[in-house]
Amino acid sequence: MQKRSGVRRPKKKRSQAGDVSLRALFLVGFMGAGKSSVGRALGERLGWTFVDLDERIERREGRTVAELLRTSGEQKFRRAERAALRELLKELQSGSAMIVALGGGAFVQKENAAGIKSIGVPTVFLDAPVAELWGRCQQQKSRKQVDRPLLIDAQGFQGLYDARRPGYLKASLRMETSGKDAAAVAAEVARAFDLDRRKGV
Ligand code: S3P
Repeated sequence: MQKRSGVRRPKKKRSQAGDVSLRALFLVGFMGAGKSSVGRALGERLGWTFVDLDERIERREGRTVAELLRTSGEQKFRRAERAALRELLKELQSGSAMIVALGGGAFVQKENAAGIKSIGVPTVFLDAPVAELWGRCQQQKSRKQVDRPLLIDAQGFQGLYDARRPGYLKASLRMETSGKDAAAVAAEVARAFDLDRRKGV
């Protein structure tokens, strides 16, 4: 066989799914669940890269998620979301260890959940009573921290949560976040998956 000069490809691992699952974890759940703040806290705790899928979408599309939703509509936003996730899943097979926070609608799209499942990465559904999620979103809105075009009124919020909940429950684990801060939830997630042993991998 002819030797290739200079370039060495990494050997293909037999069980990529198993390997990736040890080096990544996805946080899913509704708006206001704390996916980004818990993800950041967990990333810092473990020395793993934190990735916010919405930020990936914004970089890829050159627009904020809010602009995308308002000007191009939800269908186009979901398409961009799927594409950004597909790219990220490819990166996961060879990149550094990651904590990923998905946007509130990402995991309930069948194709996205199937893609994540296919590489064996654990998923955690961060949950809280809807009234608390609504309260957190209202607080973030009044502080101009997050612009969420899908946040219209309390009734619509409840309806969307109810419709999505069965999808979120397909995650590997549901974690109650009511009344807890991001660091406490991150510590619980780390304990649940014995992640502190994998600090800085
Ligand atoms: C969405 C949630 C948002 C963002 C977009 C759509 C949703 O992310 O992806 O506005 O469909 O629930 P957060 O859950 O981080 O707010």
